[in-house]
Amino acid sequence: MSKVTVVGAGNVGATVANVLAHKDIVKEIVILDIKGDFAKGKALDSWQQAPIDFYSTKLTGTGDYADTADSDIVVITAGIPRKPGMSRDDLITTNAKIVVSVVNSIKEHSKDPIIIVVSNPLDVMTYAAFKAAGGDSNRVFGMAGILDTARYRAFLATALDVSPKDIQAVLMGGHGDTMVPLPRYTTVAGIPVTEMIGEEELEAIVNRTKKGGGELVGLMGTSAWYAPGAAAAQMVESIVKDEGRIFPVCAWLTGQYGINEMYLGVPVKLGKTGITKTIELQLNDDEMALLKGSADAVKGVMDKFNDMGLV
Ligand code: NAI
Ligand code: 2OP
Repeated sequence: MSKVTVVGAGNVGATVANVLAHKDIVKEIVILDIKGDFAKGKALDSWQQAPIDFYSTKLTGTGDYADTADSDIVVITAGIPRKPGMSRDDLITTNAKIVVSVVNSIKEHSKDPIIIVVSNPLDVMTYAAFKAAGGDSNRVFGMAGILDTARYRAFLATALDVSPKDIQAVLMGGHGDTMVPLPRYTTVAGIPVTEMIGEEELEAIVNRTKKGGGELVGLMGTSAWYAPGAAAAQMVESIVKDEGRIFPVCAWLTGQYGINEMYLGVPVKLGKTGITKTIELQLNDDEMALLKGSADAVKGVMDKFNDMGLV
């Protein structure tokens, strides 16, 4: 049974820990935050839910990295979320320093843990974590695609008045407005989505998905946490159970899709060693152009991070 550390006890971090505890698949979850007592409070609250919801996963909170020693998996949610009017990219100056310092501290106490990054701007913060970790790229990756695909699937479920359980889809690219939902790879209980919905309505859903994070920031004044937390917990589950599930994940590319040496959302298989396979879809010219456009947008932010000289 595994030990999982969640760094950042805020909205997303606390949700990752709580959802994961409910799955009852890991021995221990440590929640760490610079506001040490805050993490202790979140962990204690979740632990007191265990007798009610019936799980054995032990939760503890801390501000001390020594308590994260020998973690198998670390989920990084530390950092500031965006406020209305901000893009995810506006967070880079603050969050890059936080993510690099978190990984450096984690490394002192755990040897080669699998690292799942959630902090934004996601693709570049995953790159920052990989650079700071200095290890195997198959063990450092980011969560965004499961969330973005879930938003797309939920919007489709509403439009078609069907269960979201029956909607399967792939979405690729960066975690920003240039993300690439792929209608050609979207099905409703195995039926191509294009046979169930008109072109215009589908296009509106694709566009709403691209701005899905911003829609929630507009509604709540801060970014989302239930779906993001559940998405990161689902990645941990596939790793811990060695399920080999296929998810869109922010992964290091080494020539796949003609894209080299950068992190971007692509479908991968997740098992006990992290990413065990990166899947290359036969994208058509239009889809490939959209993916390249998304990669260019991420590269611009990556350059900003490299100019900061943190790693
Ligand atoms: P939040 O403000 O509720 O929580 C962030 C927590 O990080 C705070 O408790 C803060 O004390 C802690 N923190 C800050 N610096 C730290 C450090 N050096 N070490 C340890 N903890 C530290 O924010 P929320 O809503 O939980 O979002 C967290 C991050 O996740 C944001 O950057 C947000 O943009 C991102 N996010 C990413 C998503 C994705 O799909 N990848 C989805 C939702 C949010
Ligand atoms: C989201 O998409 C803010 O990245 C976060 O909700």
